[in-house]
Amino acid sequence: MLHNRLTRRIAASPLAPLAVLPGRIAAVARHNARTAARTASWLVRSREHVHYTYDLERLNLEHLAWFVTTVTGVPAADARRYLAEIREDDDLRRVVGDGLARSPRRATTDPVVRYGRRIGWYALVRALRPEFVVETGTNRGLGSAVIAAAMLRNGTGRLATCDFDDRSGELILPPYDKIVDHVVGDSLEFLAGPVARQMPVDLFISDTAFTQDHELAELTAARPLLSPRAVVVATRCNMWWTLPRWADAQGMRFLYFDEKPADHWYPGLGIGAAFTSQAAEAARPTAAARTA
Ligand SMILES: C[S@@+](CC[C@H](N)C(=O)[O-])C[C@H]1O[C@@H](n2cnc3c(N)ncnc32)[C@H](O)[C@@H]1O
Repeated sequence: MLHNRLTRRIAASPLAPLAVLPGRIAAVARHNARTAARTASWLVRSREHVHYTYDLERLNLEHLAWFVTTVTGVPAADARRYLAEIREDDDLRRVVGDGLARSPRRATTDPVVRYGRRIGWYALVRALRPEFVVETGTNRGLGSAVIAAAMLRNGTGRLATCDFDDRSGELILPPYDKIVDHVVGDSLEFLAGPVARQMPVDLFISDTAFTQDHELAELTAARPLLSPRAVVVATRCNMWWTLPRWADAQGMRFLYFDEKPADHWYPGLGIGAAFTSQAAEAARPTAAARTA
């Protein structure tokens, strides 16, 4: 009681900013100490210097499940099941792990398989059951392998992916490679070419993550290739507003999932999705499919 009265008095006094300063300094110091400890532990245990890999925080997984549910219309229980399925897929983990171990870049690669936000791509593919997915920015092929694994589970679908780095795609390995067309070249040329145009695109993932102008050029080039139920995904929606503004211009809805890396100093990226209600209609499971 006395303490409450005292606190109220201090809060009203002109000296209040000075009185609360030690507490504020302590809060920031605690935060910075936690960040420093996480950073020091990462410096010792990881060898990565670009394209960091990590798992997602547990609560973040629940947020991701609801993101997938909102974009695709599948029940949250199904979205959670898809997110668990990829994390428990030992075959994919073994294939990707072998690829990492054999990589010419293995000296600066962690031997552990961590998918980060890509497990959300997996769940989107499982929920939407796309016939054709196009990804720009293959990099090593971690996302491509994840998407291909989802398609193999679906029993349908093909992926076309492109990167101008001729070392890209090293993780697109059997059995996943049989449903993937990997092109080395500029993404805009790729989107104008026959591989990206082999059939209507049900899921387009813009992940060259280069500049906002380039992302807009990719979205513009991809627009005529999209099927009516297409979902369009981009990674850098935490840095620029290209996709939400583009979605608005197309009469589509937009949602962003902000990834939270577990046990890592890196703040993470996310999954921005432009989508229509047709995507959800097409993904809504029939009673027969639900039991599969
Ligand atoms: C963020 S990484 C892609 C990550 C990948 N999707 C994954 O899941 O791991 C971006 C990649 O885009 C490629 N890239 C950047 N600009 C490009 C362009 N104009 N055309 C083709 N590839 C490009 C880079 O070489 C890089 O490998």
